[in-house]
Amino acid sequence: MMAGILTGCVESNAATAEPVAVEKGKVAVVYYSWSPDGNTRFAAQTIAAKADAKIFEIKAEKPYSTDYRTCCDEAKPECRGKQLRPIQAIEGLDLAQYDVIFVGTPNWWGTMAPPVRTFMTQNAAVLKGRTVCLFQTNGGGGMQRCEKEFAELVPESTVLPAQAFSGRSVRNSVKELEKYVTDRITVK
Ligand SMILES: Cc1cc2nc3c(=O)[nH]c(=O)nc-3n(C[C@H](O)[C@H](O)[C@H](O)COP(=O)(O)O)c2cc1C
Repeated sequence: MMAGILTGCVESNAATAEPVAVEKGKVAVVYYSWSPDGNTRFAAQTIAAKADAKIFEIKAEKPYSTDYRTCCDEAKPECRGKQLRPIQAIEGLDLAQYDVIFVGTPNWWGTMAPPVRTFMTQNAAVLKGRTVCLFQTNGGGGMQRCEKEFAELVPESTVLPAQAFSGRSVRNSVKELEKYVTDRITVK
């Protein structure tokens, strides 16, 4: 059941909200994934398949270290300071073509990975009036500040309720990922 619809950071009671009707070809999935396991990538691919959506990957201009501890050290001040890590241009992505955009991130230090913050910040204007929805994978911390801080970045978008998935069990969560889609949109 839908928990509520966020418009900007104002939560409305939409417990009975119907899925948003959207035309085929008007859904995009955009995600960032860092670990070799590709947990968020797997979630994004599963969501894109269910939503019949185009899928796009966010990449940092200067990638984080491939070493977990070093990456954590690099990311910590950026996450705590809500800093923007420069990202590469995403080939073939024209957000204006889409009505619904699902955005995926790993939970980093309780919030979205900085490249996702950059993507949302850079595209807030084109996302105005469009519907956006976050999904997240994590190492056990759950949603933490991800949903709230995501909504704050797009105050003029319609923000559907986010969902967190355990990274460790994401490959066993295909049904939940598919339900995440069908609870939120109906593709016509
Ligand atoms: C820099 C960094 C910070 C992380 N911080 C958190 C955290 O605060 N809470 C949490 O539950 N998991 C945290 N994790 C674990 C990831 O969210 C989790 O493993 C995720 O599924 C990885 O997704 P990916 O495979 O797409 O990179 C962190 C991982 C990294 C690399």
